[in-house]
Amino acid sequence: MPHVSSDVTRTARPRHYLMCRPTHFTVDYSINPWMDPTKPTDTDFAIAQWEQLHTLFLRLGHTVELIEPVPGLPDMVFAANGATVVDGRVLVACFHHPERTGEAPAYAEWFRARGYPQVHRAEFSNEGEGDYLVVGERILAGTGFRTDRRAHAEAQRVLGREVVTLELVDPRYYHLDTALAVLSDTEIMYYPGAFSAGSLGTLEELYPDAVLATAEDAAVFGLNAVSDGRRVVLPEAAVGLAEALRERGFEPIGVDVTELLKAGGSVKCCTLELRGARARAGC
Ligand code: ARG
Repeated sequence: MPHVSSDVTRTARPRHYLMCRPTHFTVDYSINPWMDPTKPTDTDFAIAQWEQLHTLFLRLGHTVELIEPVPGLPDMVFAANGATVVDGRVLVACFHHPERTGEAPAYAEWFRARGYPQVHRAEFSNEGEGDYLVVGERILAGTGFRTDRRAHAEAQRVLGREVVTLELVDPRYYHLDTALAVLSDTEIMYYPGAFSAGSLGTLEELYPDAVLATAEDAAVFGLNAVSDGRRVVLPEAAVGLAEALRERGFEPIGVDVTELLKAGGSVKCCTLELRGARARAGC
């Protein structure tokens, strides 16, 4: 199937995001291969880079809510990991590593305080949108490093969408959102080297026309991207992906959040999408 050419007009849909300022950001433990506690981090610089991302989302017309950062939880800036929100239903994360377990109650409380009627505490380990990516009516679900495979059935039950399991095999790409990004309700981009042979087969079958990332673009976290259907915000170093996206009629917008990369996170990790209840056809 030929891919969509740049003369296609793409439509941006305004989004609702939750973010967390990296007020307490540092790297003082290591739970993924990017984190080296012996390397210095600059919290002010991380805040400045994050603020540029926050401002960009507002400038693009999105709504951004903020959760109060909790002292002693340096990874809380990675709001994508806090929950998965579909049709107003919230499945709160259950973190794999003890270093991050304190974040789950903070996110649960945030949703409860805002009156979300269905806030589910998870039974099995899941790291929110780090491993659950919503593509139209389907949820692609990562496993292998963080989210327990058994959590996938739980997500399908709680969120009411078909869940497709994908197995991650490269420890550098420990969350699905480090290896795959959603571009529209039907399109994705991914790095083939991050997946098991079986999962690669699944991706090829479901998305034969996907944008494939090179190892270089994956290594600068180019797949840790946020799309509104037209504008794709991604790390500016991912120049090959930006070009491929432009060819398909998307508008790539490069940003620099390299200070956060010292913790193994980037654009998408900082961004949790809040999907509200939608009007359904019929009665
Ligand atoms: N240091 C964090 C961790 O290892 C980074 C999380 C990045 N978030 C993401 N959605 N991939 O858990």
